[in-house]
Amino acid sequence: MAPRLQVENRSVIRRQRLTPFTLLILLVVASACGGPTPRETTLARGVVSAPEAQAAEVGAAILRQGGNAVDAAVAVQFALCVTNGFGAGLGGGGFMLVHDPAAGDGSVATLDYREKAPAAATRDMFLDENGEVIQNMGLYTPLASGVPGTVRGMAAAWERYGSLPWSRLLEPAVRLARVGFVLDSWTADSLKKSSDKFAALPAPLLRHVEFDDYYGGETGAVLQLPDLADTLERIAREGADEFYLGHTAELLVQEMERNGGLITAADLKAYQAVWREPVETRYRGYRVVSMPPPSSGGIALAEFLNMAETFPLPLSHSAEQIHLFAEIAKRVFADRAEHMGDPDFHHNPVAQLTDKRYARERAAEVNRHERSDPASIRAGEFPPNGAEGRDTTHFSIVDDHGMAVANTTTLNTAYGSGLVVDGAGFLLNSQMDDFSAKPGVPNDYGVTGSEANEIAPGKRPLSSMTPTMVFEPAGALLLVLGSPGGPSIISTVAQVIVHVVDGHQDLKAAVDLPRFHHQWPPSPEGEDLLLVESQPEYSLPGDVLAELSRLGYTIRTRENLGDVQAVMIQDGVATGVFDRRRTGGVAYP
Ligand code: GLY
Repeated sequence: MAPRLQVENRSVIRRQRLTPFTLLILLVVASACGGPTPRETTLARGVVSAPEAQAAEVGAAILRQGGNAVDAAVAVQFALCVTNGFGAGLGGGGFMLVHDPAAGDGSVATLDYREKAPAAATRDMFLDENGEVIQNMGLYTPLASGVPGTVRGMAAAWERYGSLPWSRLLEPAVRLARVGFVLDSWTADSLKKSSDKFAALPAPLLRHVEFDDYYGGETGAVLQLPDLADTLERIAREGADEFYLGHTAELLVQEMERNGGLITAADLKAYQAVWREPVETRYRGYRVVSMPPPSSGGIALAEFLNMAETFPLPLSHSAEQIHLFAEIAKRVFADRAEHMGDPDFHHNPVAQLTDKRYARERAAEVNRHERSDPASIRAGEFPPNGAEGRDTTHFSIVDDHGMAVANTTTLNTAYGSGLVVDGAGFLLNSQMDDFSAKPGVPNDYGVTGSEANEIAPGKRPLSSMTPTMVFEPAGALLLVLGSPGGPSIISTVAQVIVHVVDGHQDLKAAVDLPRFHHQWPPSPEGEDLLLVESQPEYSLPGDVLAELSRLGYTIRTRENLGDVQAVMIQDGVATGVFDRRRTGGVAYP
């Protein structure tokens, strides 16, 4: 068994405690220089909750060096690009929420670094001559990848909030890639499963020799990624432009040209991350802030909670509660399919969909004792332009000044398209499958879409990622959370919030409870599908499942639903929780 990596030498980098005298000197010097005054420490200590333990340690080390939550987030993201190719990568994208108490107004900034369709993409690019969707074309081919956003996203967050040098934030990731990192059993298993999946795909669709060349290994083995280490080193030295304009861009374009992919040098040059306006609602007095389009997550979460609030909630995990939540979800997901898409291309009726009166009207359609046929559910109607993956990765960070980051990132499906950029060592995403290839035809996650989410050059595909923050009714930050899982992210985040707010559960208990998920469209056979977890510790009692079957649901199992990494703040103490469903870690500075 290889030795565990020493990510940082704690004795060297432990933060010095400030005496009142040194604090006074610092304040005088800072004001004399016109520099920033030291930030107020409001929490006992910070915490990093990440989907992989070595990356969590990287974040804690950055906090110990005096970095803030965004510095730690950038370092964790790049570390996950090495240790968690399952869900994160330089070739992917995502969304970040930042709450900086220094702003003084409780605001949350939301950053969109979602992938974009290349300029040569066309609406029908995944359809055959009969207009039918070609299976796996948008998932496991060079056409599957949108223009990656991760590196620009991290640079945008760092430019606005970062306090440590950029290159220092990439050092741990370079080291993990160069020296290697120890494969835990979950990751080794996921590499094997993905390798088998790629190998089984029909020949014309893809050439995936590269995946096995780069990624693989038994539990306990040390996986080294030297090409990725070189790429990270270049980005550390030259900044984000290196990825989009420099040698890495050249390697990516060469990979596309060799294999018939669409991403060009011009696409890379044009890519920008965008700061957007958050989606907000109040749930039983708690302020819930989440990601706006091009993620559906924030609107769907708000609509779900707004509807749930109109009911006295039945006992947690009873058939009545699961039925109620499934009925709410059917309406939320029907609205998602019809109304949501990239806001740069499509008008999303955000105000209408998150309106409390709309939620009351929608909720009034729900019969608490009888199931509605999903085929009978329609999206809500609004005047046009009215006022107004399962295999993803989420981490949550809070520093001791109360600055918080919720970041969800992805390559879409496990290890993305499986295509590695030769010489650069990173995997490309399969995010083009998140577009609606044809109206009403489900994608890999089983969700459907409409014109709002059709493919267009430069457009971002609709996501379900839901990085979220919840504030106490009096205003203090309570929860930072998120999850992978495609559309089941929305149910997962909603259920954890409900367990904390209504069930008064502590965070660990809320994360540990079994989950379920409904996403509306009936199956091709007309079934009303309800997903539950199959792992014994998360499975629902037999009598609850029997009652749900009696109501007419078709119960399908997934090994697990979601992988929540979250932080809860109570009485000045930030506590991190990782989800035991997969492999994760919590680290304190
Ligand atoms: N790729 C999954 C999502 O963004 O929802």
